[in-house]
Amino acid sequence: MQHKKMKDFPEDFLWGSASAAYQVEGAWDEDGKGASVWDTFVRIPGKTFKGTNGDVAVDHYHRFKEDVALMAEQGLKAYRFSIAWSRIFPHNMNETNEKGLQFYDDLIDELLANQIEPVVTLYHWDIPQYLQDEYLGWESRQIIEDFTTYAEAVFRRYGDRVKYWVSLNEQNIFISHGYMMATHPPAVKDPKRMYQANHHANVANAAAINKYRSLGMDGQIGPSFAYSPGYPIDARPENILAAENFDEMNAYFWMDVYAKGEYPTAIWNWLEENDLQPEIRPEDFKILKAGKPDFMGVNYYQTSTVAANPLDGVGIGTPNYSGEKGSTKRGGIPGVFKEVLNPFVEKTNWDWVIDPLGLRIALRRINSRYGLPILITENGLGEYDKLEEGQIHDQYRIDYLNDHAKAVQEAITDGVKVLGYCTWSYTDLLSWLNGYQKRYGFVYVDRDEESPKELKRYKKASYYWYKEVIEQNGKNLK
Ligand code: BG6
Repeated sequence: MQHKKMKDFPEDFLWGSASAAYQVEGAWDEDGKGASVWDTFVRIPGKTFKGTNGDVAVDHYHRFKEDVALMAEQGLKAYRFSIAWSRIFPHNMNETNEKGLQFYDDLIDELLANQIEPVVTLYHWDIPQYLQDEYLGWESRQIIEDFTTYAEAVFRRYGDRVKYWVSLNEQNIFISHGYMMATHPPAVKDPKRMYQANHHANVANAAAINKYRSLGMDGQIGPSFAYSPGYPIDARPENILAAENFDEMNAYFWMDVYAKGEYPTAIWNWLEENDLQPEIRPEDFKILKAGKPDFMGVNYYQTSTVAANPLDGVGIGTPNYSGEKGSTKRGGIPGVFKEVLNPFVEKTNWDWVIDPLGLRIALRRINSRYGLPILITENGLGEYDKLEEGQIHDQYRIDYLNDHAKAVQEAITDGVKVLGYCTWSYTDLLSWLNGYQKRYGFVYVDRDEESPKELKRYKKASYYWYKEVIEQNGKNLK
């Protein structure tokens, strides 16, 4: 629908930006930190772009004051970051590391001193390596208890100051990449194991939310889900059904569990038919149903266009991790759907579809299906940036963010409750599988795959643009 008049963004709208521990902190073995699965995975030859790792990343661990000063100057209202579990419990689940805890105390205090709301992610993919070694991490039910223990420790430590918590970041991504595509740790290709690990992650997510509630803390908590709404390629009924399949299998399969504590019927049925259903204990549904989030966190980058895929059709594809436009090999699930090219939308150099309207569609679908407020926890453009005489003219990023923020305003005008908009990312950072050349930040960090150089920070054109958006509470969006 088209509106005659747009609603304003709410006065307390959280104009934010985001990061994740492994992608920015560096200091991978400092001050008592233990190894996470990513610290190990990046050392396996051929796993990441040019063998890049987060040993130094953009050195946020040592430079967080400089980074927060840049945020303050920009007027940022919220900063979303994650806690590295292996800084808090480096060697076992019985002993915490005071220096690790202190780092996040300092970061949170620095943010609050600058009127920036901390939005804290408990888990952005970096499970401690010893839990992987001891019992295969997410594949064991023991993870439910251990994740809750970790969550409780950080709730108790920071809960007086942190009012927004993200439980799991993109469970759909770390589970599918970790256990189906083998592109993330633990690099397994086994759908049966994937669905079991996924079920444990669901219960752990709900158990952490339940723990938060039981502590009676004053704040909000929810997961961040990577939502790519599905479109049918055309109006042929079999393609409409493929799009339904896509959304049920790739989105509602997770979000229904978060919001309703149940798996969607058609997908559960498909799992049983293929003997892929996870083992579930009767008490799990009680935990899941009680663990309904306060908001749905959404990481939105793109939409997916799909068509019918026969039982002997295409399987898993190959994403573009090189930045060579057009190198993606689209895949699918035989008998369910296959991804196809959408000729109506532009793509980035990494073949990610640029579709701002898709964000409005995503927000509308979540609002209609779950009736939960939404916090946009990630949205941004990964591109090559050029540093030219100390300046970065990233007009393409300004256009991208402007159009997406405008789509958020349209969704708000449609009646969707949106708490905030966190761009990805604040500074440039390590893009897990794409090295340092795929940049997302408002702040350029001068380093590359070969060398961390001096890690000098430069404000991009988009930094100044977002400053104005915040100042005017979105009134200058075009
Ligand atoms: C999300 C993650 O999947 O997308 C981020 O939460 C990630 O950690 C971002 O960096 C962009 O993905 P990529 O692969 O381009 O770094």
